[in-house]
Amino acid sequence: MSTYVHGLKLQPDMTIGPDGNLWFAGCNLVDLAAEFGTPLYVINENTIRRNCSRYLQAATRYPENFSIAYASKAFLCQAMGRIIAQAGLELDVVSLGELHTALSSNFPADRIIFHGVNRSRHELRTAISHGVGRIVVDNYFELEKLAAMATEMNVEVNLLIRLASGVQADTHEYVQTSVTDSKFGFNITDLPQVFAICSSEPLLRVRGFHSHTGSQILSLQPFTENLRVLLGLLATWQGKVPELDELNIGGGLGTYYTADDQELSIEAYMAGIIAAAQDIARELGVALPRLIVEPGRSIINEAGLTLYRVGGTKTIAGTRKYVFVDGSMADNIRPALYGSNYEAALANRALEAATETVAVAGRCCESGDMLVWESKLPAAAPDDLLVVGRTGAYNYSMASNYNRLPRPAVVLVTDGQAELIVRGESWEDMTRLDVLPDHLR
Ligand SMILES: Cc1ncc(COP(=O)(O)O)c(C=O)c1O
Repeated sequence: MSTYVHGLKLQPDMTIGPDGNLWFAGCNLVDLAAEFGTPLYVINENTIRRNCSRYLQAATRYPENFSIAYASKAFLCQAMGRIIAQAGLELDVVSLGELHTALSSNFPADRIIFHGVNRSRHELRTAISHGVGRIVVDNYFELEKLAAMATEMNVEVNLLIRLASGVQADTHEYVQTSVTDSKFGFNITDLPQVFAICSSEPLLRVRGFHSHTGSQILSLQPFTENLRVLLGLLATWQGKVPELDELNIGGGLGTYYTADDQELSIEAYMAGIIAAAQDIARELGVALPRLIVEPGRSIINEAGLTLYRVGGTKTIAGTRKYVFVDGSMADNIRPALYGSNYEAALANRALEAATETVAVAGRCCESGDMLVWESKLPAAAPDDLLVVGRTGAYNYSMASNYNRLPRPAVVLVTDGQAELIVRGESWEDMTRLDVLPDHLR
């Protein structure tokens, strides 16, 4: 069987059924659209579990402790929290919303890493009182708040110091996070002052460093460069700072979206990090630290797809044909935000050949509201079911109500079963939080 349907490279557990429809994890996508409506996010549980196991299995090759923390910003709801907890991973959260979702799915607090660049006292206090495992501190004003709070609450707080390690990854500038001119993290030259502050605060326990290089990175080099910087800092500071033995190198492993992306597998990435950590540690004469990585996209992206109903088409002679669907940048902001590309197919006509190259347009009032700029498809007709592939990461989690469009539902599929895990919003929900003051009634 071809590995492509129209312009879409098949995702794990995606097949063409005898009915000529696309199936995903044993579920007929046409039936899912009929039952749950469109737009619809569909997430394959098996793929999430498989990717978690691949990470954990690869981590066993490291002679010291190596933890995998799923970056919940890529996709989180209570069901996802349960899956990640059951899989045995840790969890990275960046807000009380993510923390609340995790805790309400019974995610163990001590396996949670709390990030942020400007958290309020209330947010930090809530995280500390729940006993989150690590708080990653980004800057001086957060450090001051944390010191005050640890004293006020009389509890020890385990910290990682976030650093802009200066490594520049070859990825979109909006997702480069470790360059020196970045809102994230301390600069390396801040460390003497940071440790001076911490040493006068006995309840602040600095356990290690954190540095996330960026996202959708497809080569090993930025990760190993980052490791070299961080291991060098361990060599400098170990012995002067008690308990300093953890390196969290963030997430960032890229995934396949289109044929332009030369994928680095989870296994190759993990083996590369482990080998580099061992080589560099030996070279610098530093003991192997506890390692942590925080993958988001590489766990969830290929587990997801989005279903849309085609409304109609518009052809501009000699220029382009647009296929209009019932979704938009409100359910997938990535093409507009980063110029990201996706692949697509018609799920109800999977056995038909693709005959044209078209653009898939969203329904928002923005020229940039395009879901796919170029995809091969059969000539699409009203009511066809269009699937945009590999939308598991940063789609639902970045969705908005722009143009007052309701956010779509999320359905989890596993071995032929489909279950709703996030309800779709209704049109009525669009005014649910509105308040009409008396003088306007
Ligand atoms: C601190 C941190 N960790 C992990 C991640 C996850 O990155 P990815 O989804 O690319 O693996 C991000 C993403 O922005 C991040 O900022």
